[in-house]
Amino acid sequence: MSTQNRGEGRRVTVLGLRNMKARGERIAALTAYDYLFARLVDDAGTDVILVGDSLAHVVLGLDTTLPISLDDMIYHARAVRRGVNRALVVVDMPFLSYQVSVEEAMRNAGRVLKESGANAVKVEGGTRERAETVASLTQAGIPVMGHLGFTPQSVNALGGNRVQGRDVEGRTRMLEDALRLEAAGAFSIVLELVPGDLASEISQELRIPTIGIGAGAGCDGQVLVLHDMLGLNRDFEPRFLRRFADLGTLAESAVRDYVRAVREGEYPTAEHTFG
Ligand code: KIV
Repeated sequence: MSTQNRGEGRRVTVLGLRNMKARGERIAALTAYDYLFARLVDDAGTDVILVGDSLAHVVLGLDTTLPISLDDMIYHARAVRRGVNRALVVVDMPFLSYQVSVEEAMRNAGRVLKESGANAVKVEGGTRERAETVASLTQAGIPVMGHLGFTPQSVNALGGNRVQGRDVEGRTRMLEDALRLEAAGAFSIVLELVPGDLASEISQELRIPTIGIGAGAGCDGQVLVLHDMLGLNRDFEPRFLRRFADLGTLAESAVRDYVRAVREGEYPTAEHTFG
């Protein structure tokens, strides 16, 4: 799609996503963290753009998502929002911005929507306390996406990046958490690193759409980290990932050509010079 076609199609809404599930249409989601990539991702027809706190890894080179601040998320969300005409923009609430109290969660999620122009926030976990927070946020008009399975902000408690819900107790808990988040008003739930049969079961039990990452084909949609699927993050090769391009190699090769051309006096030439 050329930039002339930007904004084609109706804006994606939380209700629209639920209708997509009801019609059996699959939802395509990707992350973005800046204006130009957000434009590309939106122009290509992605339904949901997540300003994920995975920016800790792929933008900032950090080991975990824990150090990211609310101001960091708002800064990136504003840039993304400027590049998006159609997709629903969802912003990750960072670690400890929503866990301390419902009041703090309300204030912080309100800041995200007011200061970035994004459409919704995402929070991790499905305990009773989390469901209370989700209910308060949705009642205040702040749409919330849930996130179950491997929840990166709990990486220390979970003992690493592991598939969750492998035993009976874990399966039961995840299904209960998903139902609780739906009852609290969440409009969608990300399922990360979840066995395929469990993700399918949860997806069938819920009326709201599930968005999988490392959760198989039974979810209502799929999300990937943009830099991973474009092949820019060359060290990251989990089983669930398909690289749709090898931009890392392409970018490095372009930079090598540039360095050589500058060193050899092949660039710039008269053609690139003002008279
Ligand atoms: O931070 C993120 O990008 C995410 C996705 C992996 C779902 O939470």
